[in-house]
Amino acid sequence: SNLTQDDLKKLAAYKAVEYVKSGMVVGLGTGSTAKHAVARISELLRQGKLRDIIGIPTSTTTHEQAVSLGIPLSDLDSHPVVDLSIDGADEVDPALNLVKGRGGSLLREKMVEGASKKFVVIVDESKLVKHLGGSGLAVPVEVVPFCCDFTRGKLEELFREAGCKAKLRVKSGGETAAVTDNGNFVVDLYLERDMGDLEAASEAILRLPGVVEHGMFLGIATTLIVAGKSGVTVKDR
Ligand code: A5P
Repeated sequence: SNLTQDDLKKLAAYKAVEYVKSGMVVGLGTGSTAKHAVARISELLRQGKLRDIIGIPTSTTTHEQAVSLGIPLSDLDSHPVVDLSIDGADEVDPALNLVKGRGGSLLREKMVEGASKKFVVIVDESKLVKHLGGSGLAVPVEVVPFCCDFTRGKLEELFREAGCKAKLRVKSGGETAAVTDNGNFVVDLYLERDMGDLEAASEAILRLPGVVEHGMFLGIATTLIVAGKSGVTVKDR
């Protein structure tokens, strides 16, 4: 078939939106895959096929998209329990653990998706990996701006055995640090070998003062939807 990668993202997103029912509080993900889900939800609202949806956006970008499409929005302060979240991921392992945040959002995503009864991850097949952090791409960590090079060094030290290089993320084309929705910076961890026990790695990262959150989502996703050239598959954890 002649499906592009963006067509596959859309197929996965549309399949996920089938899980959305009228009256639900829905976590709206961020990125090039999730944006198709947000657009689809607004389309079904306009057609009257969905009613009374409250969206909880996971970034300022998604907030803007949802506002422009007329989706009613709220936040976790008013709706601490989310019925269903839909979002993309950078990597997905066989146990449905994820790496997220290469696009810059991860903290708000983890707050909203962690508060969700069901979290449906939508990806094209290129995102599937055996081990998180093993694809040569980064595991992002959100850090406070204060002495971020100190925190960067501590992160690199933590995964020295895995051949870690920790790099402060910069704005595209620039030398200034990229700033998250929460006014923080991002340190990207590039690993030569896998980091071993993921829970232990997560705990160790979170114990470092200066770290706000990291992009490994362990045991949070409940459903995975993968779109590939041969079709769409659904897997529950
Ligand atoms: C945003 O930073 C992320 O966590 C995204 O969910 C993730 O990067 C996937 O984005 P794409 O769907 O654009 O690949």
